[in-house]
Amino acid sequence: MGLLLLLASTTLLLASYLHPGSVTNAQQVFTIKDVSLSIEPSADVSRGTNVTVRCRASVSSSGQEALSREYTVYKDGSEVYTKTTSSSDDFLYLLPDARVSNSGKYKCKINIEGRQRTSNAEKLAVEGLSKPVLHLNKGVVTEGEELTARCTAPGETGSIFFYFYDKGEEIQDKQVNSNQAEAVLHFRSVGIHRIHCTYTVFVRPDSYKSEESSSAAVSVKELNITPVLEISPQHQIFEGDHLNIFCSVRVAQRSTDSMLLYLSEGTSLLSSGSNKVNHSMVALAKAPGLMFECRMEMGNVVKIANRTVPVTELFSAPTLTMSPAEVFQREPMKLTCNSERFASERIQRNELTYTLHPLENPMDTGVFSVKAPLRDFNYTCAARAKGIEKHSETLTVRPRVPVSIPKISVYGKAILGKPIQILCQSDSGSLPINYTLFREYMPENTTSVRLPIQEALFTVSISRPEEIKKFMCEASNGRRQPLLGPRLNATVIVPLSHARLSAVPNLQEILEDGHLNLICRVEGTPPVTFKWYRVGDSKPLNTTTTDELHKDYMVPIVTKEHSGRYYCEAFNHARNLVRSNEVNVEVRMAVWKKALIGGICLLIVSVLAVAVVLYFKSKRGKREAAAELSVKPSSPKSDDSLTVSLTHDTEVYNAATVRVDRASVSVWSERKPDAGNDEESSVVSNEPDVEYTEVVHPRSADPARAPLRKGTDTVYSELQNSPHGAADHHDYGSVEYTELNGDPEISRLHPQDLPEPVD
Ligand SMILES: *[C@@H]1O[C@H](CO)[C@@H](O)[C@H](O)[C@H]1NC(C)=O
Ligand SMILES: *[C@@H]1O[C@H](CO)[C@@H](O)[C@H](O)[C@H]1NC(C)=O
Ligand SMILES: *[C@@H]1O[C@H](CO)[C@@H](O)[C@H](O)[C@H]1NC(C)=O
Ligand SMILES: *[C@@H]1O[C@H](CO)[C@@H](O)[C@H](O)[C@H]1NC(C)=O
Ligand SMILES: *[C@@H]1O[C@H](CO)[C@@H](O)[C@H](O)[C@H]1NC(C)=O
Ligand SMILES: *[C@@H]1O[C@H](CO)[C@@H](O)[C@H](O)[C@H]1NC(C)=O
Ligand SMILES: *[C@@H]1O[C@H](CO)[C@@H](O)[C@H](O)[C@H]1NC(C)=O
Ligand SMILES: *[C@@H]1O[C@H](CO)[C@@H](O)[C@H](O)[C@H]1NC(C)=O
Repeated sequence: MGLLLLLASTTLLLASYLHPGSVTNAQQVFTIKDVSLSIEPSADVSRGTNVTVRCRASVSSSGQEALSREYTVYKDGSEVYTKTTSSSDDFLYLLPDARVSNSGKYKCKINIEGRQRTSNAEKLAVEGLSKPVLHLNKGVVTEGEELTARCTAPGETGSIFFYFYDKGEEIQDKQVNSNQAEAVLHFRSVGIHRIHCTYTVFVRPDSYKSEESSSAAVSVKELNITPVLEISPQHQIFEGDHLNIFCSVRVAQRSTDSMLLYLSEGTSLLSSGSNKVNHSMVALAKAPGLMFECRMEMGNVVKIANRTVPVTELFSAPTLTMSPAEVFQREPMKLTCNSERFASERIQRNELTYTLHPLENPMDTGVFSVKAPLRDFNYTCAARAKGIEKHSETLTVRPRVPVSIPKISVYGKAILGKPIQILCQSDSGSLPINYTLFREYMPENTTSVRLPIQEALFTVSISRPEEIKKFMCEASNGRRQPLLGPRLNATVIVPLSHARLSAVPNLQEILEDGHLNLICRVEGTPPVTFKWYRVGDSKPLNTTTTDELHKDYMVPIVTKEHSGRYYCEAFNHARNLVRSNEVNVEVRMAVWKKALIGGICLLIVSVLAVAVVLYFKSKRGKREAAAELSVKPSSPKSDDSLTVSLTHDTEVYNAATVRVDRASVSVWSERKPDAGNDEESSVVSNEPDVEYTEVVHPRSADPARAPLRKGTDTVYSELQNSPHGAADHHDYGSVEYTELNGDPEISRLHPQDLPEPVD
């Protein structure tokens, strides 16, 4: 048994090895060299040809086994046929008895074990459609009866549209996917109707239209029913007459049940019913007349009887008029309501009555006396006779509002010498308003204001400011008396002139530390804006606006700095700038300074005199004795400190005789001016803070200094109080001791060698 099983399995394995499309096929090597498609007998054929689409594949393979080939045929991109074959013959797709619907682009695809190749595309065109065939189920019908028509396209396939025609005019169409269609036809008119049909085959993107079928005749016989319209009275119908209208049918043969009658006038349905319809009404005037219609409907059959009845107007619609044509509020006026024409055959003029809306009692037939309303108001009127009422169109009465007393004002600014614009304006009053400008009761000019945005502006010119009061406005907007307004009350701006600048005190008396007022005066109309300038400066010293015609600029404390040329400028609302004369301010020195300078000069002269006396005396005494007087600045760099040194030789001092060899008086260093002080201009600085103190130094006991000194030195030092804010903490400022005979570098004393300051 086990042996038998083994044998069977071996046989299976062997079979599977030998069988194509199995394991062996996987090892078989092949290539699809080419696939081509051709159409036989030709790509352009006529209807009914047996067409073959041939798909030829060229495949090379290594083995002897046949390969499984799957062919797919496409028409216009969609798959139409698929077949698998192991034959290596050409694959044929047959289109026997080809139709237009077979037209299209063909392609084929071969697929061997997943490897596929697509052929070229070929276009097949089939020419010719079969002639349609029409069949009618009846040859004779009565009005409203139905008829079935069938149209066939023999042998055609695909999507087909069928069309049915009556006397060449398309009456129905049907789309079907078969080769025949049916249509139910109705006929509107009596007589012979010629019916035919056509069809169209759609092969995207094209469509092919067939020829016409042969036509068939249908005879439509009239249904013997007629609607009848009767109107009484028949002639000369006037407005207000009573009318009776009858709508019925005249039936020749059988009576039909599903019949409906409609009686209408214009667009309004008056009555409806099944067999007979009537209607009564009062005739109304209407152009071109009353249009009655009697309509019968039975199934698809519609029959109409119509008639237009002219109606003569009894009287025309009234018109409402007013007189006078223009009225002011509350003024009396007349409103007249009148019908111009009336049918004298039927009525007398006095039969017509008129009423006004809103109601007013008439003075006479159709004449109403009313008072003009305050606002726009609508009136209508009505005329009435024989139960007929006619209304007029709306009359809108627009009462005029009387003009109010005009106001007068200056538009903008009134500037003397320039054109002045004067505005006349009434607060109320209907337009148009005529404004007249008067100058001293003489009309100057007139303007008419027609629109709300307009203004009555007059341009005038005056030569004196008082003339502005001469102007008045007058306003008028109708038949009423014109209204004269008040005189113009406005300020005329006189442009500035005659600017003058003066100084207080007098120019000769302007002293340092005094005060100075620069007064600017002008003529013209305030407010005035003044500006003071110093010649050469671009910016004003001050700008002030005042209601006066003069203004001063004050310098409270005058210094030399303030010397210069000054002028002022001014302008007012006339915007003209005026410039004054220039004044030359020269600041003189203060009296006390003059005195001080005099005193100092006197002192210097005295010192010089003493020095000269001493000089001559010493010349007479010992000639060898030498005395030197030197006055020199302690340091050229130091501005504030001044050192005066008087050195005597010991011998000379002891002998109490002084011989002056040389004397020099030099530099008074100029002191820097204090901030804001006016002493800068002083030639000689006044130094009230300087004190001269004599300090006698005994001979120094310091042995280190001893060799440098010769005898006893007397040193006169200046002890100067430091200026305010100086960095020095001592009561006396920096002091320098200069030894005449010794090395100046060594002989200098340092500040710490000085005695401590006594507070
Ligand atoms: C088309 O083929 C059919 C048989 O399939 C044959 O009867 C017919 O005659 C052929 N028509 C033409 C035009 O060859
Ligand atoms: C018109 O119809 C009404 C009923 O709707 C009837 O009473 C009247 O008599 C009819 N008039 C005439 C003139 O036939
Ligand atoms: C009246 O009827 C006739 C035919 O009966 C038609 O020609 C005409 O247009 C109709 N008039 C109106 C206004 O319906
Ligand atoms: C007057 O009638 C007109 C239309 O005719 C309407 O526009 C207007 O508002 C009416 N005026 C008044 C005051 O009723
Ligand atoms: C009156 O005013 C008009 C412009 O409003 C001006 O053209 C005309 O010159 C004026 N006439 C007189 C006399 O001022
Ligand atoms: C206004 O003046 C013109 C002529 O300038 C005149 O025709 C018109 O009637 C006047 N209008 C009024 C309301 O006075
Ligand atoms: C003119 O107007 C001023 C104010 O602008 C007023 O004080 C003065 O009383 C007026 N004069 C007259 C005559 O109306
Ligand atoms: C101008 O002068 C007024 C006083 O007349 C003073 O109040 C004002 O500060 C001054 N202005 C300038 C910029 O000097």
